[in-house]
Amino acid sequence: MDNLTVIVLAAGGGTRMKSKTMKVLHPVCGLSMIGHVLRAVQAVEPSRIVAVVGHQREQVGAHITDLLPDVLLAVQETQEGTAHAVRVALEAAGTTTGTVVVTAGDTPMLQGDSLRAFVAEHEAAQRAVSILSGDVAKPFGYGRILRNAEGDVEAIVEEKDATPEQREISEISSGIFAFDAEFLVDALPRISNDNANGEYYLPDTVHLARDAGLTVGAHMIEDVTQTEGANDRAQLAELGRKMNQRIVTEWMRQGVTVMDPATTWIEADVVLERDVTILPGTQLLGATLVREDAVVGPDTTLKDCEIGREARVVRTHGELAVVGEGATVGPFAHLRPGTQLGAKGKIGTFVETKNAQIGEGAKVPHLSYVGDAEIGEGTNIGAGTIFANYDGVNKHRTVVGRHAKTGSNNTFVAPVSIGDGAGTAGGTTVRRDVPPGALAVSAAPQRNLEGWAQSKRPGTAQADAATRAGEHQVSHAGDPAVREDGPGASES
Ligand code: UD1
Ligand code: CA
Repeated sequence: MDNLTVIVLAAGGGTRMKSKTMKVLHPVCGLSMIGHVLRAVQAVEPSRIVAVVGHQREQVGAHITDLLPDVLLAVQETQEGTAHAVRVALEAAGTTTGTVVVTAGDTPMLQGDSLRAFVAEHEAAQRAVSILSGDVAKPFGYGRILRNAEGDVEAIVEEKDATPEQREISEISSGIFAFDAEFLVDALPRISNDNANGEYYLPDTVHLARDAGLTVGAHMIEDVTQTEGANDRAQLAELGRKMNQRIVTEWMRQGVTVMDPATTWIEADVVLERDVTILPGTQLLGATLVREDAVVGPDTTLKDCEIGREARVVRTHGELAVVGEGATVGPFAHLRPGTQLGAKGKIGTFVETKNAQIGEGAKVPHLSYVGDAEIGEGTNIGAGTIFANYDGVNKHRTVVGRHAKTGSNNTFVAPVSIGDGAGTAGGTTVRRDVPPGALAVSAAPQRNLEGWAQSKRPGTAQADAATRAGEHQVSHAGDPAVREDGPGASES
C-alpha cells in the first residue's frame, strides 16, 4: 500500500508482568510477542515501520533490529501514554501524510491477513480513524467501544475511567488503529492527560475525530483472539495456549497426525512434513524439523532438532540433534547438542549422547554415555558403556570404527580409538588404541575363592544357601581353567 507507516508501540514498562524481562520480549510459542507483531505487520507491505522503545531500550531495540533490520527505532524517554508514544514515532519518521497503522507490541495474536483487510477497509471508507475491535467474553482491562443509538462509534473509554455500565460493554479496542496521517498529526497535540492514569491516551483520537465531524469506524473482527493482549503472566499463558492451538490445527490441516492436540506444543518456527505423527505430551521447539512418516512421542521434547523420514523418537529429550532416516531413539534418551545419528541407527534406553556422530546402522542400545565420539557404521556398543571424555581439565574424542562389537560395562578413556571390526570384552577399560580386528581384554582373570561364604559368613542365609547348593552339585574346586572372557556384548 502507498505511503503506509506502521508504528509498533513497545516503550511501556509492562509492570503487570512483574518481570525483569520487558513485556514485549516475553515469548509466546517460541517467538517474542513483538516478534509476532513484526511478522504480522509485514503483510501490509508498509513503506516504513517505526518501533517506539523506552524501558530497557537497548535490549528491546536490539531484539527488534535483529528480527527486522529496517525498523526505525524511536525513543520515548518518558512513558506518558500511547498517544505520546505515537507522537514520538511520527516525529522520528517525519510522517505527515498517508495512512498510519498503530499496533501494540503486546498483541501477538494479530494475523497479517486480518491487518491487511482492516487497512483496506479503512482506506476504502476514507475514515479519519479505524479501530480493530472484538466482542470478547472477558473485557476486563481493555478500552471499551462506546457506540451511539445509531451504532456509530463515539469514543473509547479505558477500564479505569469507565462507569460500571460501560464496564459491561463487551466490545473492546484491540489497541490496533488505522489513521489518516493528517488528522492524526493535528489531533495528537490536542489530547489531554486528564484521566485516571494521567496519561495521553491514543483512544482519545476517536472522540476528537467525532467532534470534528470526521468518519470513525470499528472493524469488528470475528476471530476475537486476534485482538487479545497480554499484560500479565496469566494472560500470557492464555495466549500461549491459543496460539499453540492455532499452530497445531494448521499442521493437522497440512497432513500431520496429532493424537492429542491439548498436550502437544509446537512453536512458531517448527516445520513438519506430511504424515508425521505426533503422540501425546510432546513439545517441538525452536527450529525443529520433522520429516515425512516420522513418529515423535509420547512425552518427547525436541528443540532445534532434525528428525529423518520414518524415524521413531520415543520419550526423549533432545536439543540440536540430528536423527537419520529410519533411526530409532528412546525410550528415555537424552540427545545433547552435536548428536548425529545415522540412518537406521539406534540410541536406546537410558542413553545420553553429546557431540557424537553415530554411523549408519550403528547402535547404542542401553544405559550408556556417549560424549565426544565417533562411532562407525554397523557398530554395536555394549550395554552400560561410558565414553570417558573428560580428564578433569580437557575433553577428548573417542573413535570407534565400523562393524566393531564392544562388550558390556566398558569404559573408553579418551583419547582412544577402536579399529574397524575390533571387539572388547565385557568389563573392559580401554586406555590404549585397539587395532582393527583385535579383541581388547583389560579385566584381570577371575579367581573363585571356594567356600568363602561358609568360612567368612558362617551362620548367615548366604552361607546356608551355599552349603545346600554344594550338597547336590558337582564341585569345581581346584579347576585350573580360567575362562578367557568373550566379548559379552549385549545386542539388540
Ligand atoms: C491499551 C489501550 C486499550 C486497549 C488495550 C488493548 C490505551 C490508553 N489503552 O491498554 O484501549 O484496549 O491496549 O490491549 O492506549 N506504550 C508505549 N508508551 C507508553 C505507554 C504504552 O510505548 O507511554 C506501549 C506499551 O509498551 C504496549 C502498548 O503501548 O505495547 C499498550 O500499552 P499498555 O500499557 O499495555 O496498554 P493497555 O492498558 O493494555
Ligand atoms: Ca496491553
